[in-house]
Amino acid sequence: MSEWTKSSWRAKPRIQMPDYPDQAALQEVEAQLARFPVLVFAGEARRLKKHLAAAGRGEAFLLQGGDCAESFDQFSSDAIRDTFKVMLQMAIVLTHGAKVPVVKVGRMAGQFAKPRSAPTETVGDVELPSYRGDIINKLDFTSEARIPDPQNMLRAYTQAAATLNLLRAFSTGGYADVHQVHSWTLGFTESGKADAYREIANRISDTLDFMTAAGINSDTAHTLQTVEFYTSHESLLLEYEEALTRIDSLTGQWLAGSGHMIWIGDRTRQPDGAHVEFASGVQNPIGLKAGPTMTSDDLKALMAKLNPDNEEGRLTLIARFGAGNVAEHLPRLIKTVREEGAKVTWVCDPMHGNTIKSSTGYKTRPFDSVLREVREFFGVHASEGSTPGGVHFEMTGQDVTECTGGVRAVSDEDLSDRYHTACDPRLNASQSLELAFLVAEELSSRREASKDQAAG
Ligand code: PEP
Ligand code: CO
Repeated sequence: MSEWTKSSWRAKPRIQMPDYPDQAALQEVEAQLARFPVLVFAGEARRLKKHLAAAGRGEAFLLQGGDCAESFDQFSSDAIRDTFKVMLQMAIVLTHGAKVPVVKVGRMAGQFAKPRSAPTETVGDVELPSYRGDIINKLDFTSEARIPDPQNMLRAYTQAAATLNLLRAFSTGGYADVHQVHSWTLGFTESGKADAYREIANRISDTLDFMTAAGINSDTAHTLQTVEFYTSHESLLLEYEEALTRIDSLTGQWLAGSGHMIWIGDRTRQPDGAHVEFASGVQNPIGLKAGPTMTSDDLKALMAKLNPDNEEGRLTLIARFGAGNVAEHLPRLIKTVREEGAKVTWVCDPMHGNTIKSSTGYKTRPFDSVLREVREFFGVHASEGSTPGGVHFEMTGQDVTECTGGVRAVSDEDLSDRYHTACDPRLNASQSLELAFLVAEELSSRREASKDQAAG
């Protein structure tokens, strides 16, 4: 086996990456990015790894969420704030149900590059290269817009830096103080699970009042006033990733400085391919999407390559089989993990296996299928005796109409009202909160079951 370097992926087969027509321009951008500061620090990635290890043991729970694709056009502080807010609300609901810390990871500040099912897109009789995310080309349906332009990497870097700056300010600047638990609601979530949320918020306020009265606030003040919020994205555009990869002076290990956690998509997880090669050499926690075509042998090869030392928290397996398919596919992978004695964190992505075309022509996801896949994921883990460690959603704090269903019943006809995603359909804030309540129920019944077991 040849030695890993941050460029060793270049000698491996690559798919889902653009062919830049102007190589000189590409190299110039890579050189520039390589001089820019990294966005995240190694100590933060290591800390996240510890939290993910705890999630793998059932002592914490991962909430990972955000856009399918971040976009240049929709970049705004309101959009970032609202997604952050909904994630805080969801985390409160989950913490309440699970009684364990919730690890918050955004699909944010770097989630720009998209793998596509087809290399081209046809509208009428015009066929053009597919849109691959704002970091690569443009969504507009013109041949010029679809040419990959390396300059987009610089804009993506700048947007990621500004996004992360705002997230860091929100996390530690008072906004995420749990005393603000009532203020994180969004107007349009009112008719959904708002009452149930308010009830939890009231109980938390009461507890905080009690703590203040009893004088037990001071030591915990910092913990209550701030949150840890991490970033993640699919590590797809490897020129960008490589340019932001640096050596960590403390440990001498490499760090992908583009985000805390990076993941490998279901289309680019070939054990001998470029994407697995790149991820294998950086110390960040790695996510690995697992769809219906993943075999036991694939998983064995991937675990050997991505986590040869069996380090806890290093590898998160993100199951995305689609509602109705979990019982067919998840057990064989759980069995493989058990046979190998591998330490992994199991996470459910109920989005990517449930994409359909609506009767009105939109790419959508029925909320019921999303709920069903989550239930199936918990069900299989219960019967296999393994640990569900988290959830991974495409969601936004905006009041969009992209997924059908939910308490506020978005219909096929409603989809055209506020369909803004640059790629896959996202849950809106109301649907996200509703889903958090379902997950919380699953977690608390799991807790009850294990208490019963311990007692009897
Ligand atoms: C995604 O997470 O946006 C994605 C493309 O997922 P997957 O690789 O699981 O299809
Ligand atoms: Co997606």
